[in-house]
Amino acid sequence: MKISKAVIPVAGLGTRFLPGSISIPKSMIPVFDRPPIHFCVEEASKAGIDHIVIVASEGQHAVLKYFEERPDLEKAVSDKKNFEMLSLLQEISKMADISVVIQKEQLGLGHAILQAQSSLGNHPFAVLLPDDLILNDNPTIGGMCSVSEQTEGMVVAIRQVSKESIPNLGIVELGQDYGRTVEILSMIEKPSLESAPSNMAIVGRYILPAEIFENIRNTSPGSLGEIQLTDSMTALLKTTACTGYRFPGAHFDVGTPLGMLEASLHIGMTRYGFDFEQSSLKRNRNYL
Ligand code: G1P
Repeated sequence: MKISKAVIPVAGLGTRFLPGSISIPKSMIPVFDRPPIHFCVEEASKAGIDHIVIVASEGQHAVLKYFEERPDLEKAVSDKKNFEMLSLLQEISKMADISVVIQKEQLGLGHAILQAQSSLGNHPFAVLLPDDLILNDNPTIGGMCSVSEQTEGMVVAIRQVSKESIPNLGIVELGQDYGRTVEILSMIEKPSLESAPSNMAIVGRYILPAEIFENIRNTSPGSLGEIQLTDSMTALLKTTACTGYRFPGAHFDVGTPLGMLEASLHIGMTRYGFDFEQSSLKRNRNYL
């Protein structure tokens, strides 16, 4: 079935970005020149997903405002003959049909997804986490939509991670391997190194069937005392297959200031051909 809706949860407190995130939602702090949520909406839109449900907390008005038309800014850049920026501004407000639901309490990723249920109906849908920035002209979520059309099961993006990262992520156990895709036998959220079934982690892109909501409702708080999506998916694995998707492209964890710096440098250097090795930035370590 074609995936036409996606959920983007952004209600977290963004404690790793304090004090910057006191008054600016984490998903709105720019990576180089545009916020993480921009990349997610753009990725979904390129994949043909035309309705996006943002799960935000009270007071995160800046998130919705970002996607509204801004005739004043359009006029200002047009007066300056910056037609490239004019068309970017026009594209942003047209990328997708966006609605917002409010998550009153931050009880975990599973709980955040549950808040979007009434906006999604009884169809499979995509989830994109803005903390995971993936740069690729072919949208990762689009590749995953194609897989789900064939398997009609769950799909998660996966990648190999360092030992140090394992206790911070969802880790999967792999089964039959087909190269780009692989069967997922089990998954565990933020395991200890001893209990981790592999070094392959879930990256924040999912295709989920509507049955996940029932499983989220029945999920008790798990790792960090939160209702974890990984635990709800584990329960659903009893009846519904899950495929891991090894995605091409550059991936950055922009959920940490250092990851965001790395992504910003990558984007800036790629866009402007900036020679990092030769730059004063590299020589003057105080900058970094
Ligand atoms: C969430 C998921 C985790 C996944 C990670 C990817 O964790 O629960 O399974 O590996 O996103 O970014 P969080 O970053 O919310 O702790």
